[in-house]
Amino acid sequence: MTKKVATKAAVKAYTEMTAEELKNELAGLKKEYERYQAMDMRLDMSRGKPCKEQLDLSMGMMDVLSSGSDLRCEDGTDCRNYGVLTGIDEAKELLSDMMENNPNNIIIYGNSSLNVMYDCVSRSYTHGVMGNTPWCKLEKVKWLCPAPGYDRHFAITEYFGFEMITIPMTKDGPDMDMVEKLVSEDPAIKGIWCTPKYSNPQGYSYSDNTVRRFARLKPAAPDFRIYWDNAYGVHHLYDQDQDHLIEILAECKRAGNPDLVYKFASTSKITFPGSGIAAMATSSNNMEDIIKQMKNQTIGHDKVNQLRHVRYFGDICGLMEHMRKQADILRPKFETVEHIFEAELGGLGVGQWTNPKGGYFISFDTLEGCAKTVVALCMKAGVKLTEAGATFPYHKDPRDSNIRIAPTFPPVSDLEKAALLFTLCVKIASAEKLLKEMNA
Ligand SMILES: Cc1ncc(COP(=O)(O)O)c(C=O)c1O
Repeated sequence: MTKKVATKAAVKAYTEMTAEELKNELAGLKKEYERYQAMDMRLDMSRGKPCKEQLDLSMGMMDVLSSGSDLRCEDGTDCRNYGVLTGIDEAKELLSDMMENNPNNIIIYGNSSLNVMYDCVSRSYTHGVMGNTPWCKLEKVKWLCPAPGYDRHFAITEYFGFEMITIPMTKDGPDMDMVEKLVSEDPAIKGIWCTPKYSNPQGYSYSDNTVRRFARLKPAAPDFRIYWDNAYGVHHLYDQDQDHLIEILAECKRAGNPDLVYKFASTSKITFPGSGIAAMATSSNNMEDIIKQMKNQTIGHDKVNQLRHVRYFGDICGLMEHMRKQADILRPKFETVEHIFEAELGGLGVGQWTNPKGGYFISFDTLEGCAKTVVALCMKAGVKLTEAGATFPYHKDPRDSNIRIAPTFPPVSDLEKAALLFTLCVKIASAEKLLKEMNA
């Protein structure tokens, strides 16, 4: 993943302008901003939701089962009835191909992987991990949070009252020197949030070296687990130019650390976010530990939906073909935003942004101290963005610079307007900041 730094030669960088030049520039920008305000736009780029066309792609899934369908699995299980706690074999096979894990190491859940992550934290809190002291009985629990990251991850660990430690993200993944040091020295650290592929929000994928170092961690806490949320594992934007990860469970096994990882995935952004299927892959020891709790929690998840997914896709090939169609819808949206950023901001020295090859987001870094202003300016002109700071633990971005852009939901025509307004707001906030620094 390359991080684009604005470097176009033809325009003068704001950082090189005199106060007079900046004032003139700002006056023009403000006139333009008024024009946008008069448009009375109402656009939402705040959450990474699939658009209607993406959801429409999966409508065939509604037709694969009907009242006349045989709802039995290959082994004869009637999917309409109770049972099959860890999911039907066919669904395990499909999800195991998607997750690159052995079907015997997969548990199929309900519709949300975030819910499974919450559940893992909750179980560890009340009952402990594999015989270790439940976290609720400990004086302090700490959690590593690579940031910018996914706000709902941070919300879970904040809700449980854990102390969240921010780990800087690089384009190869989290700062592993810091992760290794902290994890090996502090037994109060019980976990780390990871979105290893096409990360939320930067779209970065962990390098081979990063994955190898994760698998070789030597935690001070025996109940430390890596929460490996591979939410965007098959969400490529391009056919050829794709990121690929070393498979973490196998790497942990090779490194003598078989129980170190809980790996999560779901079909939320493959079929329907409200009605997909979620899965976890982990070692047999972890599975045994988890199932002890799970069997008190449910008799089984929605098998009809599992069967529906399997019958619709057939196999992993069908699923990957479906993801190509998703990419055809999403690619122009990402490229629209990236082209506008480059055309409007290239060379101005007022921000940098990522050009992901997959996932759901573009990450934008403004000059220090400008993110909140940019988000507020956009809001006042009718474009809602993810709240500034949301990509950091406790909603506190120490540099007030990161903004998550979610280009998937609006149509391209709306995205064009929203991206143009965004760049205008970045220019205004940057010019005002620079003038303030000059005391002009
Ligand atoms: C990194 C990441 N994990 C998990 C989720 C939610 O997954 P699910 O719908 O399976 O709960 C999202 C949704 O945006 C996400 O970005």
